[in-house]
Amino acid sequence: MHLTKEEESILAGGSGNAAAKSMKILTALGDIFGAEKLIPINSVQIAGVSYHNLGDPGLDYLAELAIDGKVKVTTTLNPAGMDLVDWKKLGISDDFAKKQHMVIDAFSKMGVVTCCTCTPYLVGNLPRYGEHISWSESSAVTFINSVVGAYTNREGGPSAIAAAMIGKTPEYGLHLDENRVPDIGFKVDADIISLPDFGALGYFIGSNGKDKIPYISGIKNATLDQLKSFSASVVTYGSKPIYHLEDMTPDAQKHKMPAEVITVGEKELAESYASINDDTGPIEFVSLGCPHASISEIAEIADYIEGKKVSDSVELWIATARPIKMLADTRGYTKVIEDAGGKFACDTCMVVAPLKGRFKNVATTSAKACFYCRGKNKMAVKTGSFEQCIDAAMNGKWN
Ligand code: F3S
Repeated sequence: MHLTKEEESILAGGSGNAAAKSMKILTALGDIFGAEKLIPINSVQIAGVSYHNLGDPGLDYLAELAIDGKVKVTTTLNPAGMDLVDWKKLGISDDFAKKQHMVIDAFSKMGVVTCCTCTPYLVGNLPRYGEHISWSESSAVTFINSVVGAYTNREGGPSAIAAAMIGKTPEYGLHLDENRVPDIGFKVDADIISLPDFGALGYFIGSNGKDKIPYISGIKNATLDQLKSFSASVVTYGSKPIYHLEDMTPDAQKHKMPAEVITVGEKELAESYASINDDTGPIEFVSLGCPHASISEIAEIADYIEGKKVSDSVELWIATARPIKMLADTRGYTKVIEDAGGKFACDTCMVVAPLKGRFKNVATTSAKACFYCRGKNKMAVKTGSFEQCIDAAMNGKWN
């Protein structure tokens, strides 16, 4: 990969240790993937924030970078392993909290905006169409490439931090138009209405599209929340963090339906639901907000839960970004939800928090959460609408 004189000087240590380390990562990546040069970026989102995933080696790496490293562009974080303020109420230990705060302090020292969310586009880290960025979180990468039309690869934590330190990324993969062309079509001939329907559709398209980029027809008027859910699901069960939705996503008009086409009918949707769901015992944990809940989703939850009571045998979490929770406070939604026994889990979620072994059976609206709760946390899962999940929180069982 060609480096400018300035980039060579950074690599040689002329701008400090953290910048040199970061440039080394970016040049290695560029060489591996055949990039010709580094290109400027305007936004970074870093995954790998939970101490649960980082451990002490990850914390040491961040602490070393923080000695002389400073980010060059707007940079936010993926969810951490706990609510950074109300962690005790979520059953997090003091030891874990101490280490998690050390992780956040290291990022803060580097100049990162320590807002921990997988929906940075809802809270001020929103790139425009055509802008080059470096984001890590798979659901956010898929949303921003597809729905907004910004350009990013799915970065690992270290490469996203490196991009933030330099303000550049190697030009390869989804930064190039030729790699954003759809190569498999899906015609949707089923009623895709609710949030979990979009999750189930994402399951089907991801599982069948595998490493191809889908072009999808037959979906009309999806909301932002539905596209957020679909983005999370399609990349979890597939692999490409981009899709094109006919008449809906901005780049779809540049393309047409590929030759290979698969139809998704009611039967395929029902089979997808059956594959996502497990046989569950009594529901002990209900988690809403994957990806992190928007203010309109919290309004919907408050509206349905008002006057009800969460069962003593169930824990109900609403995972969201802290600024969204602050909006919920001003509208009275927080009080309604907490009066009913629900708990806000800001800055975190049920997948990155250290929950393994605490709950056996979980209900959620999210097909992505089902995948990780089952695989990583060894829970049995059910997916359904907000109403179904809240009913399960009231009764401790799934209907
Ligand atoms: Fe976000 Fe956690 Fe789901 S990071 S997409 S809420 S698994």
